Amino acid sequence: MNPTDLVFQSYGRCCRKDQFFVDFYDFFMASSDAIRARFQDTDMAAQRHLLRNGVMQIILVARGMSDRKLRDLGESHNRHNYNIQPEWYSFWEDALLKTVRVHDPEFTPELRDAWRQVLKPGIDLIRGAY
Ligand code: HEM
Repeated sequence: MNPTDLVFQSYGRCCRKDQFFVDFYDFFMASSDAIRARFQDTDMAAQRHLLRNGVMQIILVARGMSDRKLRDLGESHNRHNYNIQPEWYSFWEDALLKTVRVHDPEFTPELRDAWRQVLKPGIDLIRGAY
């Protein structure tokens, strides 16, 4: 199976429980006080749903779909809007992989590499719009 199919299926297993997104934000916000502060006034239940969709968009773009929605995320996260520091994206990626490891019973080191490979173009695009 190619990396995008492996990741698509892994994400399907992760999304079965909303706890995946609860844990993701716990890990992500634990990575720095500055990141936690950014979500102080956020409706986290809504944010978890938005993120579910955002990760799916990254996977679909890796499978060849239009990147229009990711370009919109690049715009909302850039210096003129949320002003998300480029170095924070590695915390985001690490938190996501940690959460996948916890939630996907079929997790392996190979699957982790597939996730990193599949996430890279989408993260580069959003971060690159800074
Ligand atoms: C909002 C996805 C990285 C902070 C959002 C939204 C999505 C999203 C789908 C809601 C739509 C929008 O407002 O445009 C992603 C993805 C990321 C990423 C896919 C990684 C590639 C980050 C990072 C931070 C961050 C690194 C750092 C703190 C925020 C904030 C909001 C937001 C503060 C607005 C929350 C609010 O409405 O109160 N993100 N994000 N994001 N994201 Fe991200």
